[in-house]
Amino acid sequence: MKELKEAILTRGKAINQDVLLVDSFLNHQVDPVLMCHVGEAFADFFRDKAIDRIVTIESSGIAPATFTAYALGLPLVILKKQTSRIMKGDLIQTAVRSFTKGTEYQLTVKREFLPGNERVLFIDDFLASGEAAFGAIRLVEEAGAKVAGIGIVIEKSFQSGRERLEALGIPVCSLARVRAMGPDGIEFVD
Ligand code: G4P
Repeated sequence: MKELKEAILTRGKAINQDVLLVDSFLNHQVDPVLMCHVGEAFADFFRDKAIDRIVTIESSGIAPATFTAYALGLPLVILKKQTSRIMKGDLIQTAVRSFTKGTEYQLTVKREFLPGNERVLFIDDFLASGEAAFGAIRLVEEAGAKVAGIGIVIEKSFQSGRERLEALGIPVCSLARVRAMGPDGIEFVD
């Protein structure tokens, strides 16, 4: 997606060879016009895939997932990274380890928001090694539903996530695929 790649080049910054800072439009401040176009791009890609529901993980997946859900006219469910006193009932949980941040969290959802037998589209901001996506897949499968597609705003193609997800046979649509980055700039796959 040309507009997204331009935003990455002009408003993003490679902190080092592994981490891309895009907090001016995606992770902290959000550019709603760009996110709206991101949602439309995912909707165009997945429109004929008979999706029933969009699922994302808080927090940075919420903006692109909301616009995708709106464009497709489907409900959105936000998987939580922590429970709270008001989150009661039949919960499904799985542990997810973030390699980039060195943290672990319990990905949690109320079973009532993931009906069985549905086809789910998982949307997230970044794909690195794929741990978050695999956590979401485990929850969706535990609910009796199926992840029928994965939409990623920025894929770090030099990490293993895409390969691991494609090995499961799930279609992955990444709107920007970063081949390499560092002090000399950011290079895309296409
Ligand atoms: P993985 O799920 O693909 O294995 O990724 P990993 O564990 O390595 O990273 C998880 C967290 O780190 C996610 O944020 C993800 O968005 C973020 N992340 C990974 N690579 C980058 C990067 O190059 N730049 C930035 N800005 N973030 C990156 P999170 O913990 O879920 O945080 P948030 O959604 O609350 O923002």
